[in-house]
Parts: sequence; C-alpha cells; structure tokens
Amino acid sequence: MKKITKAVFPVAGLGTRFLPATKAIPKEMLPIIDKPLIEYAVEEAVNAGITEIIFITSHTKRAIEDHFDQNFELEEKLINSGKKDFVDKINRDIFQNIKFTYVRQKSQNGLGDAILHSEHLIQDESFAIILADDLIINNPSCISQLISAYDENQCSIIGLNEVPEHETDKYGMVSVEEPSSPSNSFLLKDIIEKPKSNAPSNLAVVGRYVLSSKIFKYLKNLKPSIGDEVQLTDAIKLMLYDENVMGYMYEGKKFDCGSRHGYVNAIQYLAKEILND
Ligand code: UTP
Repeated sequence: MKKITKAVFPVAGLGTRFLPATKAIPKEMLPIIDKPLIEYAVEEAVNAGITEIIFITSHTKRAIEDHFDQNFELEEKLINSGKKDFVDKINRDIFQNIKFTYVRQKSQNGLGDAILHSEHLIQDESFAIILADDLIINNPSCISQLISAYDENQCSIIGLNEVPEHETDKYGMVSVEEPSSPSNSFLLKDIIEKPKSNAPSNLAVVGRYVLSSKIFKYLKNLKPSIGDEVQLTDAIKLMLYDENVMGYMYEGKKFDCGSRHGYVNAIQYLAKEILND
C-alpha cells in the first residue's frame, strides 16, 4: 500500500470576502497573530507525513512562493545581529526536505478546476487536499486523522463536521449510512454543493480530503454548476456511483478563516493561549 505523500493546496481563489485586505496580499498570507494562515496548513500536512506540496496558484499569489522559499540574505542578517533564534521562523527545519511545486490556474473556474490542474503531478496516487481557509486545531491533526482512516479503509475520505441548519447553504452537504457500531467513519450516500433548501443532513464537508486519483476522470467531464464554477463536490458525487467514498467526523476545533467571523475567532482563540503563557 502506497503512503499518502502528496498534498494539493488550492490557493488561486479571489478572496473577495477579505477585500480590501486581499487586493495586494493573498488571503492565505493574512496572519493569525504572527504566522500566515497558509503556514498552519502546510505545517499540518508536513507533520502528517506529506513530502510534496503542490500549490494551485495565480498571478496575484506570488507572496506564497516567496514565503516558502529560503531567504538566505535575511538568515545571514539575523545571525550577524545575534538573532539566531529567529532563523527557524523563516527557513524552517521541518520544510527543508519538502518539495514545493506551483501550478498556475489562469482563470478562477472553481475548486474542481483548480484540483484538475494537479493531475500531471499526482498521476495515479491517492493524495490529500487541504483548503488553508479552514484552520483546524488538534493533535493528531485533521489531515493526519483522515490519512489514518484512508489507511484503514482504502478508499477516498472526506472530512466532515456538523453545522447548524441555517448554515447548510454555505457548504457541501452529505448524507451517510449509519455505521453498525460507533465510529467516526461513514459511508457516503450523497453529496451536494451549497443546497438552497432541504440539505440531506447537518453534516458538512470541511477543507480536508484524501482522494483517489480517479477523481480526475470525473473532474474532466464536469460542467460548471453553483456560482458558475467547476465544483469538486460534483466530481465526488459522480465518483459515488462507481466506488465507496467515506466521510470522517474529525476531532478538532475548526475556524473558517475564509470568513471574517471565523478569522476573528481564530485570532481570539490563539491570542488567549499567548496571553495565558
Ligand atoms: P472559496 O470558495 O473560499 O473562494 O474557495 P475564495 O476565492 O478563496 O474566497 P471568496 O469566496 O472570494 O472570499 C475555496 C478554496 O478553493 C480555492 C480557494 O483559494 C480556496 O482555497 N479556489 C477557488 C481556487 O484555487 N480556484 C478557484 O477557481 C476557486
């Protein structure tokens, strides 16, 4: 059985909800205290055993590439000015053996289209997808829990959490088969993107997935749907006709940092830890 070693980070979205902050700065580079959002997500992947990070990016997101590059000039200055302790903050040890690759998504045709841009790098392996907007705090991390569930079940796994009824139109929503004994893993019966009404349950998809490379076959034939975008959810729905896909109720605290509310809550949560230190 091949280990999951590749993770795709779609970061080409426009970040409209954070304008004007995201006019010149990628949404993923907004700091949660002193660390950009994207670094929390990359750290999560690397700590879960991922060795190849594939960013699906755009021309406005160059700062992400700079952020994960080595900055030897700054490193030297820090050492020469007696601030050696800061070196690991800029050229991090845990990223030294990680391969970072950047693929441009030329027009923002949706998450599904963004993922399709990684096909030539993923080839026929199963792989992780992380949406950095969802900051999820737990040890073991959310993606690590999903990878363990993948190892156990050998099928695509999607992170799930419960949402209140009035929020079901904001997420991909699923229906599942009840397991015969208590478990965090559920066989998916159906999935639908942002249902306007009659959501199939209160279980929503979060920004963590482990998918089989067969997803590309379904993505290729998809037409844009909700928001005139090619939706990953629609490809997963097609996949359900041919093979098992499981949902996994992860343990952890999630902040939707793609929204102002979630972003503020994340800062408040982590600020408390600093203030109590
Ligand atoms: P969102 O739906 O949050 O869109 O994308 P967004 O553009 O980032 O933010 P808003 O809604 O305009 O404020 C979900 C994820 O899919 C990526 C985004 O970068 C984010 O990680 N995405 C979305 C792409 O990479 N390409 C796209 O065409 C669309």
